[in-house]
Amino acid sequence: MKQEQIDLLRWLAPGLTDVPESSLYWIERSQRALATSTQDRDVYPVVDHTRGQGVWLYDLEGNEYLDANAGVAVRALGFRPKGIREFEEQLTDVVEELPGQDFDNIPQVLLAERLAATAPGDFDKQVFFTTSGARAVEAALKAAMDQTSRTRFVAFRPAFHGRTGYALAVTASKAIHREGFPQALPVIRAPYAYPYRCPVGSDPQESAEYSLQYLREAILEEGTDIAGIIVESISGEGGIIPPPVEFLRGLRDIADEYGAVLIADEVQSGLGRTGKWWAIEHAGVEPDIICTAKALGGGYPLGATIGRSPIFVRGSRHSETFSAEPRLALLSLFILRSIEEQGLIANAATVGEAMLKRMRETIGDLDQVGEVRGRGFMQGIEFVEDKRSKRHAPNLRDRIVKNCIYKQHLWVLGAGRSSIRLLPPLVMTHEEAMEAVGRFERAVREEVGGVRENRMTAANAAQ
Ligand SMILES: Cc1ncc(COP(=O)(O)O)c(C=O)c1O
Repeated sequence: MKQEQIDLLRWLAPGLTDVPESSLYWIERSQRALATSTQDRDVYPVVDHTRGQGVWLYDLEGNEYLDANAGVAVRALGFRPKGIREFEEQLTDVVEELPGQDFDNIPQVLLAERLAATAPGDFDKQVFFTTSGARAVEAALKAAMDQTSRTRFVAFRPAFHGRTGYALAVTASKAIHREGFPQALPVIRAPYAYPYRCPVGSDPQESAEYSLQYLREAILEEGTDIAGIIVESISGEGGIIPPPVEFLRGLRDIADEYGAVLIADEVQSGLGRTGKWWAIEHAGVEPDIICTAKALGGGYPLGATIGRSPIFVRGSRHSETFSAEPRLALLSLFILRSIEEQGLIANAATVGEAMLKRMRETIGDLDQVGEVRGRGFMQGIEFVEDKRSKRHAPNLRDRIVKNCIYKQHLWVLGAGRSSIRLLPPLVMTHEEAMEAVGRFERAVREEVGGVRENRMTAANAAQ
């Protein structure tokens, strides 16, 4: 860290004298200071907040990592994107905050129009801005209730839609997320179309039909009065599961049949990551509402609910202090423009496909690799004890994540019961992508071959 950055920390945090560049030191302080979160402090070193360029990030010890995670699908343009400094210089006269739910301003109108134009469906759309993905889901669920005067939802297993009240009610990812908290909405839960683990076989069409049939029967038994169906266009936290297109098409039909609102949660899969603006476009389906966040704010909290007009039948049905604040709305417009001008959606499609192809060829045959799957830059590799039993192999998965971090210096994250997900920044080039895949393959081979577990120690943290 540069001296001026250390001096800045000292000035901002009175009493701070020493700033050791040691992950172990800051992890200890973090453990005391920060409430329990999702992070696994046994795995990741502390990231240097003052460095990072494109697809490269650094830990406090100065180790360089190839970023195959993009801040869990946030940093679409990578660190310090092209043209960002010049763009930021133009923002010096722009105010930070105007309560956009209460007063209009130009940037948020333009961002709403821009987002609406990317969404499928030749009908009028509106946008509701939020400060997170969960809140975008919250707004969507309320909108569906407002529009239909019903409260029952269809949601899937696995499904991750966030941790706020209503969003949690439709989530089914890990028991710990829900245990002890009340169920805020009536939910009909059906199996997500997951061909690899479908009880009737791995044929995509059969798997779609199995899940749809299950759902049709559940609706008849539990209640036809459904306000909405909420579905991740590709299951993210569940292990990166792209469902067969027939599944999403069938959901559109069921929603129409019961007069329900179809909500596509694209918080992780949206904004070009899968090779189209929205992953649901791969199925040719037009949802009534799309939820987005993550990449939308370029690292600042911004979410959006994009829906058929009017999203809310009456005013004041939902609101929060913050909206797309002026600087943030302009930054978001910059991101959308960069994605388009730099051809990043096509990049995600072609480079992502090349990564998947290579991984299928090089590690796909290993007995412990259950499946390599995904679309574009949204990829999941599911690990199993062996191909025949398909039993989840969470310990192997965890060892591979650690190997990626400490030995290969490839920044990855787990997903689902025993998968690893690759969510590179959309700017990752073919060459960088092949380097990432090469590192990943090495980690898999070493761990499948039984190389001992890598524990984080002061020694390897300082490698
Ligand atoms: C599909 C999906 N929906 C909703 C959320 C919640 O978003 P946030 O963490 O911004 O509340 C996530 C977060 O990972 C997500 O992947």
